[in-house]
Amino acid sequence: MNSWKLLSEHYPVISNKQLKDLFASDPDRARRYAIGLENLYVDFSKHHINDETLSLLTGLAEECNLDKWIKDLFTGEKINSTEQRPALHTALRDINKLKQSNTAISKDVSTELENINTFVKKLHSGEITGWTGKSINTLINIGIGGSDLGPRLVYDALVHTRKPGLDIRFVANVDADEFLLATGNADPETTMFIISSKSFTTAETLTNASAARDWLSDNGCTELTRHFIAITANRPAAEKFGIAGNSIFTIWDWVGGRYSLWSAIGLPVAAATGMDNFLELLDGASIMDEHFRTEPYAGNIPVILGLLDIWYINFFHAESIAIIPYAEALRFLPAYLAQLMMESNGKSVDREGQPLDYDTGAIVWGGVGTNAQHAFMQLLHQGTHTVPSEFIVGLDGMGERNNHQEILYANCIAQSEALMLGNSENKQLPRYKHVAGNRPSTIIIYDTLTPRTLGMLLAMYEHRTFVQACIWNINPFDQWGVELGKQISGTILDDLVGNGNASTHDSSTTELIKKYRDYHNRK
Ligand code: F6P
Repeated sequence: MNSWKLLSEHYPVISNKQLKDLFASDPDRARRYAIGLENLYVDFSKHHINDETLSLLTGLAEECNLDKWIKDLFTGEKINSTEQRPALHTALRDINKLKQSNTAISKDVSTELENINTFVKKLHSGEITGWTGKSINTLINIGIGGSDLGPRLVYDALVHTRKPGLDIRFVANVDADEFLLATGNADPETTMFIISSKSFTTAETLTNASAARDWLSDNGCTELTRHFIAITANRPAAEKFGIAGNSIFTIWDWVGGRYSLWSAIGLPVAAATGMDNFLELLDGASIMDEHFRTEPYAGNIPVILGLLDIWYINFFHAESIAIIPYAEALRFLPAYLAQLMMESNGKSVDREGQPLDYDTGAIVWGGVGTNAQHAFMQLLHQGTHTVPSEFIVGLDGMGERNNHQEILYANCIAQSEALMLGNSENKQLPRYKHVAGNRPSTIIIYDTLTPRTLGMLLAMYEHRTFVQACIWNINPFDQWGVELGKQISGTILDDLVGNGNASTHDSSTTELIKKYRDYHNRK
C-alpha cells in the first residue's frame, strides 16, 4: 500500500524530532491540532505528527476506502462478515430519524424504547411490586461483558442524575462473592433481577440467574416472575428460564454485545436516571455519529484518533494505550474500552481470512487520575516503553466541592506536559531523576459530564475502534477467540465434578484438575 510505504519513510524523520521542538517552531500548533465538537475538545497536539503525517494518515484512510466502510456501517450492510450481520448500533440512537422513518428496524427500536419508558415510569411510580405487594426499589443487573460494562459505567458516571429511592447493583462474575455482595443487604421482597444476555446462553449469567432464583425461593418468594425481567435476543430461552413473556425486552442480532449499551441493555441507566437522561445519552451518541459520518477526515475526531492509534501501533510499535480519566465518574472507562477495543480488534487474520503481517489492536489499560500518579505513571515517565496516553477531564465537576476540580484539572494537564517536556534540560540532576520527556499524549476535555457528553464520548470510542479495523482490514464485530476457552471450561467442569469420562488434557491441566478433585475428596 502506497501510503503505508510513505508513512514508513516518514517515520524516521518525525520520530527524530522532539515534541517540544515541534511546539517551539509552530506557535499555532495547539490550536491547529485540536478539534472541538459541542462541549468536547480534543487536543492531539502533543503527538509525533506534523501536517505531512496527518496528510499521509488521511491518505491511508482514503486508500483503505474508509468512506465506503463508514457508509456501509450506517446503511446496515452486513459488515460483520463472519456472522453475516450488519452492525447497526447507530440505528439505536438517532431519535429524530426513528420518529420519521418507517423501516422495520426503526419501528422495532421505537417500540422497545417505548417499552423501556413504560417500565421505568411504572418502576418510579411504585407500580411494580414483588410477591408481597411491596414496590420494587432494588434492581440487580446480572450480565457480563457488553451486558454489564456499558450500563455499569454509565450508571456509575451519571451519579448526579440518579433518581432517589432506587438502588441498582451489578453482578457479572461467576464468583459467588459478587452475588453475595450484591444481595447481601438487599430485601428479597423489593428486589428485581434483570437478566441481561443477548444470547441467553452465557454460562456466567445463567449461573448467577439460577442463584437469584434460589435466593428468592429460599427467602420465601412465591411468585418468581414478579422479580425478573430479561433483556435478550433469545426470547424462547428466557421464557424457558421462567421469565414472563411481557417482562422480556428485545435486542437484535444486529447489535453487537459491546455496542449494546444504547439498546434495552441500557435499561438500568434509564431506570436510574430517568428516560429523559437515557434519551440524552442516545442523543449525544447520535451527534458523534453524524460528525463521524459527515465530517471530512481532517476535522473528524474518531478518524484522527483512530489514525493516530495506527501511527503508534504500526509505526512506533507501541504495544499499549493508557486511558486515564481525571474523573472518578469515569472509573470504569478503562475496563469498558478494554472490551470495546480489544474484543473488537484483537485479530490476526484479515477479512479474507489471510494471516496479517502487521500488528492490530493494542492493549488498552488505565485507571483514574490522580490515583494513577501514585501508582503507574512512574513507568510512563521513566520506563522503557512508549505508551501513548489519553487524559480525559472536565472543566467542571457535577457535585458540590471546594477546590477539587481545579486540582484535578491542574494535575491532569501537568501529567501531559511532564510527559512531553520531561526535565532533561536540567543538567544538574542525577541520572535517576531524569525524565526524558518526548512522550505522546492526547487530552480530551469536556465542560461537565452530562448524559449527552458521555454519549458523545462513548460513541467516539466506538467509531475510533471501527476506523482502526478498517485500516487493518479486519472485522471488529465478531469475537471468535473467546469461544475456545468457553468450550474447554465446559469440558474441565465435567472433569472437576466427575460427570464426564475424564478427558485428555496437557499434563499441567491434568495436574490442576487432580488438585481440585483431591482437595474436595478430602473435605
Ligand atoms: O465474551 C464474549 C461475549 O460474547 C461478549 O461479546 C458479550 O458482550 C458477552 O460475551 C456477553 O454475552 P451475552 O450478552 O450473550 O450474555
